[in-house]
Amino acid sequence: MREETLLTPKGVAEQRSYLDWDTQPSLFKHYPDFCYRVPLNEHPSLLWLLHSRKITDERIVAHKPYRRLNVPSAGNLHPIEIYVQIRNVSGLLSGIYHLDVLAEELVMIAEIAGEGCEPFLGLDKRYSGMIVMLSLVPFRSGWKYGLRAWRYLYLDLGHQIGALITSMRHFGQEATIMSPQKGLNAIMGMGEDEMIAAVYGVGEMSPRPVKPLHEPLMRVQPTDYTLYHAALHSAIQETPFYVDIPDTLSYEGFKTYNGRRRSARDFTPNAMSDAVIQELMRISADPSLEILTVVMQAHAMHYGVYRNGKCAVSGNFISEILHLLLEQRFIAGANMVVLITTEDFCAKTHIEAGIYAQNLYMACEHHEVGCSGIGAFYDEEASRWTGKALLYAVAIGGRI
Ligand SMILES: Cc1cc2nc3c(=O)[nH]c(=O)nc-3n(C[C@H](O)[C@H](O)[C@H](O)COP(=O)(O)O)c2cc1C
Repeated sequence: MREETLLTPKGVAEQRSYLDWDTQPSLFKHYPDFCYRVPLNEHPSLLWLLHSRKITDERIVAHKPYRRLNVPSAGNLHPIEIYVQIRNVSGLLSGIYHLDVLAEELVMIAEIAGEGCEPFLGLDKRYSGMIVMLSLVPFRSGWKYGLRAWRYLYLDLGHQIGALITSMRHFGQEATIMSPQKGLNAIMGMGEDEMIAAVYGVGEMSPRPVKPLHEPLMRVQPTDYTLYHAALHSAIQETPFYVDIPDTLSYEGFKTYNGRRRSARDFTPNAMSDAVIQELMRISADPSLEILTVVMQAHAMHYGVYRNGKCAVSGNFISEILHLLLEQRFIAGANMVVLITTEDFCAKTHIEAGIYAQNLYMACEHHEVGCSGIGAFYDEEASRWTGKALLYAVAIGGRI
């Protein structure tokens, strides 16, 4: 997928076409109003879910609501939905629910008893607790980014998995890995415009046998309309489920950081200390990734490219980094730009990059510095720099 999704200076110049925001597909899937609903904040056992994915800023832009979430998303397009199977949780009806982020409610799609999703997750016994399913809605990103959306879908998914697992751990839950099987999408009522990409359990196996759901759940379109992008859809359909549980950073202030986090749009370099730059460089990533940090502004540290906390090449690379990142001017004020690279360009490494970046966002919030994921870069320039494929960059700097 790398070659098909490259950004080149020529391509970017040709692409600068006008985007009609009135044609943006809807961001929040809505199940019919007649479905039974459970407000998340009325159930302590659901708080981890509430804080996994929630609206944290809402305003009116061009006469339309503009909502931002606890997780960042390329273009603020949020191509993800979450579903939960609940079984034997006190105070809650056992069933399969959709997480309605707009209303902060769980919406019941089907009640369950002896049947369930378990057989589609490789389990032959009932799972007591909750099973969380994360799906991708390719058209929400593909509408703006075409085939390059493939990268952003998996980076966004990484951010969401990072936020989900961080929230679970904060509320004292631990995730278990599930092994989704092929029929899962169909039984969940999904058409070709939505695909489950990762599944986690919070609970334990019971000794009681379970039967597979005997018919697919009700089908609701994830967007108000869809244009089918064959290459994007088939690339996602061919991608295996993500089945790892990532390391996450834990902070007592998680709820505040998660609710307050925003992507920086400006930096004040003097406001970030060298100690924080070094601290952020110590955050580890999945071994499939190699992290390079370009220190561009600091008090006493050398400017240059750092690997494993050590300066490998010294020099002032601001103008090269700006060019690499499509001349996005605000990055000139950053103290550091983290380049997340790999030798293995695939969906999984994009997810790992998103997870690592989500950890960086939380750490930046903790240290009160600004941070923004950067998915727009010239790929060929990047490989000249790093010798590997650049997956994602993160610009970090002092707050205004
Ligand atoms: C995968 C990904 C790529 C992004 N790329 C860029 C980028 O190239 N330039 C930029 O200014 N912001 C970028 N962002 C930040 C988004 O614009 C931002 O998350 C979105 O507008 C929502 O705002 P919020 O993060 O403050 O909630 C990116 C975010 C993600 C997750």
